[in-house]
Amino acid sequence: MAAFGSVFMPEMAMAQFDGSAWDAATIVPANSISLHPGAHVLHYASTCFEGLKAFRHEDGSVAIFRMDKNIARMLQSSELLSLPKFDPALLSQMIIDIVRHYAADVPTPPGSMYIRPTHIGTEPAIGKAATPTLTSMLYVLLSPVGDYFAGGSRALRLLLEDNARCAPHMGMIKSGGNYASALQPTMQAKAKYQADQVLFCPNGDVQETGAANFLLIDGNEIITKALDTSFLHGVTRDTILTLARDLGMTVSERELTVEELLERAAKPGTEAALSGTAAVLAPVGTLIYQGKEIKVGTGEPGATTAKLRQALNDIQWGKAEDRHGWLTKI
Ligand code: COI
Repeated sequence: MAAFGSVFMPEMAMAQFDGSAWDAATIVPANSISLHPGAHVLHYASTCFEGLKAFRHEDGSVAIFRMDKNIARMLQSSELLSLPKFDPALLSQMIIDIVRHYAADVPTPPGSMYIRPTHIGTEPAIGKAATPTLTSMLYVLLSPVGDYFAGGSRALRLLLEDNARCAPHMGMIKSGGNYASALQPTMQAKAKYQADQVLFCPNGDVQETGAANFLLIDGNEIITKALDTSFLHGVTRDTILTLARDLGMTVSERELTVEELLERAAKPGTEAALSGTAAVLAPVGTLIYQGKEIKVGTGEPGATTAKLRQALNDIQWGKAEDRHGWLTKI
């Protein structure tokens, strides 16, 4: 199986902002954008993106999961990065158009079509280090995917680090720079501890990993950091918390310290998981802290994690009622 996100559909949806208006979106070859080497995005990282998925249902139809929430986040990311505003209707039409174009290629579960809307500052203007781009481009790529974490439902290993993933006022923005800043610690954690991800815990505050949000499950309670500007406001995080409430669990969105995490992890019934569009809900089995390995509960994938993941998949795959109106049928 090809690595997650390494295969692309040959065409994408694209629209451009010329400084005063957006042009009509079109479908163009996915490998053919033309960008000046002085483009704002290439120098000052004026870019943000989204990650959402389309799923094939048993009746052959295709549905996109939580499109509106992802578009709202992308608008917010664009605003916080001083990228031009766009009408959410423009992006939803682009997403629907390109998914419809490739509806026949949407994989059957457990696969899906990963959708990657991207917004970049295109103005050739290297003097604009402290001024926004005037022009920009929106495009929507598609990539048929399977599991993000190789090995499927294997329990992950996380290295706890005292550093932040990114600047504290930037964490809620889904921008490439935040992912770039997590790369080196993640590579070092892989090489030294065979860790799958780094769990960033600046000053003992349990935040998130490079690629996903972190959730602790202790019996009937699910604990995760309350929303602030320092970490990504995950759409899957929000979905899992909603499903947990539906299942009668107690959801505690609050500060979680490393000390409390390690204390609770040591209990046999505790579970932990990573949530994200790509990660779905991936079980965490081991925490590595100050050179020591601490098992989370049994260290194996947990039953509550599996139940929540199944509840999510059942809605995405059209096997359970879409009570919250999360699916857009195309
Ligand atoms: C996603 O889950 O959609 C992301 O953007 C994370 C990325 C590491 C694939």
